Amino acid sequence: MSENTSKIAFVTGGARGIGARCAKDLKGQGYQVVIGDINADQIRNFQEETGIPGVVIDVASYDSVQAAQQLLIEKYGDVDILVNNAGITRDGFMHKMDPVSQWQTVIDVNLGGVFNTSRVFAPAMREKGFGRIINISSMNGQRGQFGQSNYAAAKAGILGFTRSIAQELAGKGVTANAVCPGFVETEMTQAMPAEILQQEQAKIPVGRLGLPEDISNAVVFLASTASGFVNGATLSVNGGQYMAA
Ligand SMILES: NC(=O)c1ccc[n+]([C@@H]2O[C@H](COP(=O)([O-])OP(=O)(O)OC[C@H]3O[C@@H](n4cnc5c(N)ncnc54)[C@H](O)[C@@H]3O)[C@@H](O)[C@H]2O)c1
Repeated sequence: MSENTSKIAFVTGGARGIGARCAKDLKGQGYQVVIGDINADQIRNFQEETGIPGVVIDVASYDSVQAAQQLLIEKYGDVDILVNNAGITRDGFMHKMDPVSQWQTVIDVNLGGVFNTSRVFAPAMREKGFGRIINISSMNGQRGQFGQSNYAAAKAGILGFTRSIAQELAGKGVTANAVCPGFVETEMTQAMPAEILQQEQAKIPVGRLGLPEDISNAVVFLASTASGFVNGATLSVNGGQYMAA
């Protein structure tokens, strides 16, 4: 995989969960990997454990993303592979949802964050004539989910955004694709009530919850040059729980 060693992969929300797995597996493929995360302590722990460096970033803030880009350029160079993985949940019924702390915050991080990083990192990819933008959406963005109107709206928005930039950027060698995980065992899902998780698991034809590596396997493929004709795609990785047409 020697062609990868000159490529820089940046994984947002990379200090734990799915993002951490993606960072480790991309490193395993030879890429120079840097994570970006809002949690400085988690970044430090992750770097100690894996040797993968990180920058503090709040993807919801355009200024923060620009500052992170400056640091990345100074220390490593331009980003070739952008994995937009950072995401949060602030669940609640729509009719009781707080317009700011639940609705706007989730839209700003989960959808605004994908715009901010893509907007900041895509120009250098276009100039180089190569780039990969991989956006982590969600099965719940495809099908909707009780108690997650904010999250589902943001994740569905990612799909429209991805299909649009996939058209705009492909002429310059930059592809954009979305991955829609189903239920994956991470701290995000550990926060869910155990009986809900058990109910969901019973609906998964593969017979188990997803693991972070199930998602990173898809991300590693989409990052590769072998995926060059895959553009604007939505890749469901959910064990068959939801099969989008
Ligand atoms: N776990 C699942 O079942 C599941 C299912 C579908 C989609 N997803 C999506 O996959 C992605 C990763 O999920 P996870 O389960 O690993 O989550 P997680 O909560 O374990 O990790 C998310 C990481 O993002 C970071 N983060 C949060 N807000 C940030 C911000 N504003 N800027 C930068 N970093 C920020 C956190 O510090 C954390 O390290 C998310 O986008 C999530 O919506 C997860």
